[in-house]
Amino acid sequence: MKKIMPLSQGLRGSIEVPGDKSISHRAVMLSSLGDSTVEIKNFLRGADCLSTIGCMRSMGVDVVDEGDRLLIKGRGLDGLTEPNNILDAGNSGTTLRLLLGLLSGQKFLTTFTGDESLRRRPMGRVIAPLSMMGARIVGRNGNKNLPITILPSEKKLRGIEYEMPVASAQVKSAILLAGLRAESPTTVIEPHPSRDHTEKMLSAFGAHIEKSGRAITLKPIEKLIAPSSIEVPGDISSAAYWIVLASIVDGSDVVIKNVGVNETRTGIIDVMRSMGATLELLNERSSGGESIADIRVMSSKLHGIKFGGDMIPRLIDEIPIVAVAAAFAEGDTIIEDAGELRVKESDRLAAIVEEFNRLAPSAFEADGDTLIIHGRKNFRAERCQTRDDHRMAMSLSIFGAAASGVELDNPNCVDISYPMFYQTLERGRI
Ligand code: S3P
Repeated sequence: MKKIMPLSQGLRGSIEVPGDKSISHRAVMLSSLGDSTVEIKNFLRGADCLSTIGCMRSMGVDVVDEGDRLLIKGRGLDGLTEPNNILDAGNSGTTLRLLLGLLSGQKFLTTFTGDESLRRRPMGRVIAPLSMMGARIVGRNGNKNLPITILPSEKKLRGIEYEMPVASAQVKSAILLAGLRAESPTTVIEPHPSRDHTEKMLSAFGAHIEKSGRAITLKPIEKLIAPSSIEVPGDISSAAYWIVLASIVDGSDVVIKNVGVNETRTGIIDVMRSMGATLELLNERSSGGESIADIRVMSSKLHGIKFGGDMIPRLIDEIPIVAVAAAFAEGDTIIEDAGELRVKESDRLAAIVEEFNRLAPSAFEADGDTLIIHGRKNFRAERCQTRDDHRMAMSLSIFGAAASGVELDNPNCVDISYPMFYQTLERGRI
């Protein structure tokens, strides 16, 4: 149990957020497939990314953790070896879905499992297209759930053209990673643009990748040429908690440093600005194909807005914290097309409505795939369940800190993406 007290003053000064989770996973996976040693700086040491390291080590990859940097010794595109045991992806959908793609077409057998949450999440969305490419994958519940086994492949995969039914960077990435060693090009067509870190990093590793409208095409390649060093930008999904807290608590003026501001991830900035937040991007620069900036946030009077469609994949992980901002805004906020929230680390639509309503009774409603938030309610302190979902735990903490406080059951799940979250919030290192 953890008790979060209301903040007595606004946030001031500067804050660093941990490395980007999505980019950390991809840096380890792609570096393992190059032929040289890659140094990774600002790697996120969250439980999800450690699951990826564990899986890569089980397939023969030498990962040296020197504290301030990781060194990964690439084994080449065909150099991974059969793991002796079942691979555990823990809570991490990115580890599992991307590795299912990467390992499809390998000549060895791999079996995956994961924690209770991951075992409930839908995997048919990656298994179906990978099977169309010729991968032989079997999973529980009619190839939909963990445990999942990839059988050894006798021949190369076929490139496919695949129109994705849901916007998902994990599904897109799995197909592209499988396409690296296929016999012909692979095209994925997205319903809405999702985060493009895989495409950007594949290009940085010398792969031929082209974008045309909603279609992304990858040509198979003999070998990846790794850069000698990758610097992971700060995670905008972690910055989002401070963006919202500074916006809603009076007297705040804070700079969040070195944040990745790839435009497929900056929905939180656009939505907060539309709600009336005062946000400035300073020192804009780029590294390894990714845009980085410092974000200055000042307290503001927020108002409700309506959004959905293309915006959703650009802030899919930030919807719980946007819902918190909306509770402090004047008027109603309507978030449409939010159905994917049901299949995240918890059913986040249900979790937002049930847990957040404890702190602001009747403020949150779900109607099909639409989330409705009635702003400016009376707040109260209550005990809430994080449901072992890191983003629910952090959003509830920010809610409590900005309102009347909160008690959290199962608070430690923040380790998944932001191990120092409570220290930063409580010790006021901001
Ligand atoms: C991620 C993609 C998103 C996101 C997840 C990380 C990635 O999932 O929610 O936290 O790194 O590719 P979906 O692809 O399921 O939308």
